[in-house]
Amino acid sequence: MSASNGNRVQTLRSLVQLLVDTSEVVINEWEADEQDPQPVDHLASSLPSHQLFEVRRIIVAACGMCVDSDLVEDPRIHLQELSERFALSQAFDTTVRAGVPDVLAEAVSLSGSVSATELSQRTGIDEKKLVQLMRFLSSGGLYEEVKHLQFANTRISSALRDKSVRRTLAYLPQTLLDPETTSATAVTESAFHKAFKTKQSLWDFIEDGDDSDEAVREIRQVFPLSMAGQTQLSSKSIAADFPWESLGEATIVDIGGGVGSMCMELAKVFSNLRFDAEEPKALETGRVELMVHDFFKEQPVKGAAVYILRCVLHDWPDDDCVKILTRLRDAMSPNSRVLIIEMIVHPPLGSIQLKSAPAPLPANYGRGSLMKGMHDIVMLSMLNGSERTPEQFEGVANRAGLRTEKVWECRAPVGITELRRL
Ligand SMILES: C[S@@+](CC[C@H](N)C(=O)[O-])C[C@H]1O[C@@H](n2cnc3c(N)ncnc32)[C@H](O)[C@@H]1O
Repeated sequence: MSASNGNRVQTLRSLVQLLVDTSEVVINEWEADEQDPQPVDHLASSLPSHQLFEVRRIIVAACGMCVDSDLVEDPRIHLQELSERFALSQAFDTTVRAGVPDVLAEAVSLSGSVSATELSQRTGIDEKKLVQLMRFLSSGGLYEEVKHLQFANTRISSALRDKSVRRTLAYLPQTLLDPETTSATAVTESAFHKAFKTKQSLWDFIEDGDDSDEAVREIRQVFPLSMAGQTQLSSKSIAADFPWESLGEATIVDIGGGVGSMCMELAKVFSNLRFDAEEPKALETGRVELMVHDFFKEQPVKGAAVYILRCVLHDWPDDDCVKILTRLRDAMSPNSRVLIIEMIVHPPLGSIQLKSAPAPLPANYGRGSLMKGMHDIVMLSMLNGSERTPEQFEGVANRAGLRTEKVWECRAPVGITELRRL
């Protein structure tokens, strides 16, 4: 056996062993759930145990290492697949534009699936060609052929909503290949601006865009939904994986807090905490007080226990992040902290601040980090933004007179980076 074959044997054995060990943990939890079933809406948003969260990402990473590499596959076939992967996104995009997920969603309460003939009539795509697309996409898990020529959504296709993001992503190649825009950092010079032919920032476009434009109506409708979706994915973990109760009756200021959804979720669980959610324009909302504030201007609430920045810094280039953080640094007392709640990029070779995956997996859980990578590219396309590694957060924090106190890894796509004054 050659040395490289020896390595492959060792790697495959380790991966299989990891899968055997970790899948038992998942199966035990499923069996426990069966004995003590939870209401459906609880299951949809329930928080996995720390152990379940960890083994799930190990399983995804281990399967990803088998599928997304040449470990077991002939490298020539793998290469061919990579070069033609575009076919998958194009085929998927075609069905989404034609409204296939919506037609299939309507069928859920009726027969559960839709025939190729009906799908063709409803979408206007030639039946034979539509079957080609649907079968190809069903092999990729995006739809399911439940009976001969009868199709249904999977959990992936039913989760689809965001057409404006897809439209924007289509303009990423020409934005990055155009010498005039490749190095742009402004929130008004991204692929989004090419796609929607606008000079407004995403926020102004949503706020003041022309209502007769379908794109404006669509993005206005979709954006709050996607933020709400992110809240749903992360809020339980944010509440459970940071010691909020230790803050007593502290004041929490949520900077760029949108409609205050983060505060409202926390307020449900921690009744002692007091919340101010700050936005450029104030809206009416229940228990949480909404204040008008521009985060590039002086912070009016001085010495608060906590300043939250949830999903804010990833919208902005480093220099603007430094300005936003400097305004907070100026308002902070020695005991104040800033909590950055957003995705933390885990580099493939790992980070000293983040838990590494067990060998032979890549330190960043490989395939398990894919969603964060995709989100990073969405931020790049929409706003020239980016998700950041712990080291990149530390870099902007230091420039604003702050330092990382602790990185709180959460059982969610986001993490919490706690900053204190230098
Ligand atoms: C990605 S959203 C996040 C909203 C909220 N933090 C959440 O997690 O749901 C970014 C928010 O920043 C707000 N924003 C943009 N520019 C701002 C500014 N100069 N001052 C205050 N907020 C701003 C936007 O209106 C938007 O609500």
